[in-house]
Order: sequence, then C-alpha cells, then structure tokens
Amino acid sequence: MYSSLRGKHLLSTQDWSLEELEKLLSVAMRLKEERNLGIYHDDILRAKTFFMLFFEESTRTRNAFEAGIHQLGGHAHFLTPKATQIDHGETAKDTVKVLTRYGEGLGIRKTYGTGHAYMREVAKWSDIPVVNMQCEDYHPTQVLADIMTIKEKFQNNLKGKRIVVSWTSAPNYIRPLSMAQSLVLAMPRFGLDVTLAHPPEFKLKPEIMAQAKKNAELAGGKFEVMDSMDDAIEGADIVYAKGWGPIMHTEDEKEGLELIDKYPGWIVNQERMNRTKPSSIYMHCMPFDRDIEVTSEVADGPHSVVFDEAENRLHIMKAIMACTMAGV
Ligand code: CP
Repeated sequence: MYSSLRGKHLLSTQDWSLEELEKLLSVAMRLKEERNLGIYHDDILRAKTFFMLFFEESTRTRNAFEAGIHQLGGHAHFLTPKATQIDHGETAKDTVKVLTRYGEGLGIRKTYGTGHAYMREVAKWSDIPVVNMQCEDYHPTQVLADIMTIKEKFQNNLKGKRIVVSWTSAPNYIRPLSMAQSLVLAMPRFGLDVTLAHPPEFKLKPEIMAQAKKNAELAGGKFEVMDSMDDAIEGADIVYAKGWGPIMHTEDEKEGLELIDKYPGWIVNQERMNRTKPSSIYMHCMPFDRDIEVTSEVADGPHSVVFDEAENRLHIMKAIMACTMAGV
C-alpha cells in the first residue's frame, strides 16, 4: 500500500513500490484523458516552481517537464552548471539547500560519470522531491512513459507479453546504459517477460542484471539473455531497440567506438519486424539514428509507437510533479 507520494524522490523506479508506480500511471492516464476532453488542470501546481538542472542536452525531457508544469499552473526554471555557480564548484548540498527555499521540485540530468551519486547527495539534503531526469544508470521518467504506452497499446493486458530489449549499432558517441537498465528492471514488475539481446562486449552492470532477474522471479516472469537480435526478435510482442556503449568492457572511448562499428547489422528493419507478432509494437525513447538503429520504414511504419511514447512523457512528467509536489 502507498500513502501520499508528496515529497517522494524519484531516482529509480526500483525505489518505488509497484502500487506507487501504478498510482502514478493512473494519474498520468487521467490527466491525459481529461486534457483530451479540454479539461484544465492549472490549479494543481499554481505558483509552484520546478527546477530543471541539465548537465546535458534534451528535447523530450526538458520540454515535457516545462510544458507539463505550465499546464498544471506552475513554472519551470531551466538551469545548467554554467548558468549557476555549480561550474565554479558550489556543492550539491549548498545548491539544493538554496533551491529548496525558492521552489517545490527539482529534476536533474547528469548522464555520465557519477550522475546517480550526485542525485543521491542532492536528495539527501533536499526538502523538496528530486527527480532523476536521466543518469548513467537509470531513466525513470522515460521508462514510466514506456510502461504507460505499452499498457495503452495492449489494453493493460501485459502478463506474459514478451519485450525484447535489444542493443543496436549507434555511432559517434558512447551512450549510457540507463535506458536498457531501466527497462530490464521495470518491465518484469508489470508482468512482461524480458529478452535482453546484445553483442558480448555490451553487457549491463552485474548488480542491475541480478536485480532484474530477481524482479522477474518475484513476478513469476521470464528473463533471458541472447547474443543475436534475430533469435531474440522471433515472435516478440514489443521490440525496444537502442544503442548503448561497451561501458562494462572498456573505458577507452576510441576502443568503445570501434566496438560499436563492429556490429553494423544490429538494426531494426522490416524483415526483422515481419518475424514478430502481427500485433507487435516498435519502441524507442528517441532520439534515434535513422537507418542505423532503425530503418525509416520501421520508424514511420505501422508497428511504430515512438511518437505516442514521446507524447506520454508529457503526461508522466505531469503526474510525477502532481503526485510528488502536490500529493495528488
Ligand atoms: N528520451 C529522452 O530522454 O529524450 P531527450 O534526451 O531529448 O530528453
């Protein structure tokens, strides 16, 4: 059972009970439905402020939070280390102890290095809810929008459906593990069977894998790992395929980029989608590398739900703020 979610930090879905996550999802669905009916919610966070501290760039996360709090009657501040004294060395503790005097919620994106530890340190000193807007290990606001999308597409009938979380080739920079790790952790808790597929050098963190297996066991679901996208995708209900770096294999950036280039065949194309169930959906958190991670034929095709998924970021962000900042 949950009490109020008011004041609760959201640093990983693993910190929240299933009941708390379901409560959040039901608020998001209600807000979405009512917005579609033209009902306004600008009394929920009237005159409230949500700070968004971005160490890296964003399209969806920033704009979903910013549009979302506007629709709830409040305001968002966009902050970066350079726009604050963080770049001059002001500590996490001092920064948050000041911000908590001004506003009611704080989101942080810090995707590389010690992002998660930074957020835990901020949360330790914070009187207001702290939301992980993506760190090196977790992307909770995205995975919640993904669950919402899957619930919508499968009429909330998730038990025994199989999601393939697959690595894809994605060049130019080393992407974090956070999306794949969040998916394998969260999806089993909602009744989905999970197949993780990646080349051998692209393993996830062992402690995350152990927790994901435990989550699957507790839910009575299946969790398997394969090294072939073709084998994994056969008969899948959901294909969620994106790139991440060989972070557990090497810390050397040049070697990491060469390893990514070693597997150009890891792309979601129509031929592969034809081997999934006719009712299957293709998902990606975006941004994606078109015609490298996924062909445009699939990204824009009938299985793709990527823009519904992106839209659901808005409804999930609103629910997170409404629940944690106002106790809705
Ligand atoms: N999916 C996602 O987090 O997108 P942004 O990086 O644009 O926020």
